[in-house]
Amino acid sequence: MSATPSPRTQRLTIASIAKMHAAGERIAMLTAYDYPTARILDDAGIPMLLVGDSLGQVMLGYDSTVRVTMAEILHHTKAVVRGTSRALVIADMPFLSYGVTPEASLENAGTLMSEGGAGAVKLEGGERSAKTIETIVRAGIPVMSHIGLTPQSIHQLGGHRVQGKTREAGRRLLADAIAIQEAGAFAVVLELVPSELAAAITERLSIPTIGIGAGAGCSGQVQVVTDLLGMSADFTPRHARHYADLHALIGDAARAYANDVAAGTFPGTAESSSIDPAVLDEILGRTPLDRPEMIEVAQGGIPLDRDL
Ligand code: KIV
Repeated sequence: MSATPSPRTQRLTIASIAKMHAAGERIAMLTAYDYPTARILDDAGIPMLLVGDSLGQVMLGYDSTVRVTMAEILHHTKAVVRGTSRALVIADMPFLSYGVTPEASLENAGTLMSEGGAGAVKLEGGERSAKTIETIVRAGIPVMSHIGLTPQSIHQLGGHRVQGKTREAGRRLLADAIAIQEAGAFAVVLELVPSELAAAITERLSIPTIGIGAGAGCSGQVQVVTDLLGMSADFTPRHARHYADLHALIGDAARAYANDVAAGTFPGTAESSSIDPAVLDEILGRTPLDRPEMIEVAQGGIPLDRDL
């Protein structure tokens, strides 16, 4: 009798995300940048993991996302893909890796898919990026777009401000969202958009909106994982909620470890291995009588309970 094959985990696709959206499920997305965190988030059932270019600030210590390169996103995408078996992994396209020429946009999106193993790419911009989205989607690559506060244009936007607050800016944002959908994007990130406007855009689109600082009326939410886990001591954006305090937890663990090392209580026998004393005698070219504990006995001491 042949054994029943164990069920293989099916990697989620944009079709799975569309199905969740159609069923009215709110979709949770998180950023991920490395193998161990990706494994944890995948095991936790997070359906979409974004290798965001926030990588530059939260993992690489840059002052903005603008400095993140294709090589860096590719490197981290590969790690996240290796750490997941179920989540749809979306690779962020770095600044100027798209939108300069259609050929370069397509080649870079293709690299993130074929070399990186991503299931989709994300790029910033509404109407201005519609042609690029169309080119990439037509080649068979799923695209998520990103409007509102677009960090790669931070120098033009003049800071991390809520977008779409005036009549003109709000109309432009709505037009951007519609242009993205018409260009073939499978979802759109709305970052730092007033809740009422984000909810109205969500109602008018058939593709899911994924909000960050855009209120609860979006089809889903995305958060930067280091914000969620409380890893940065210096800055937490207003739209983030700490679900853990890893900064304190990791600091406590590191201090406890350093104290144990200083006290000589780490490693203990459980974390160490031992060797047959006779073999050690041979390695060191000595007789059993030359062992330190025997010398101490000969000198009138009590044999130490050495852990070799
Ligand atoms: O790079 C990133 O982390 C992002 C999210 C904030 C959506 O683009």
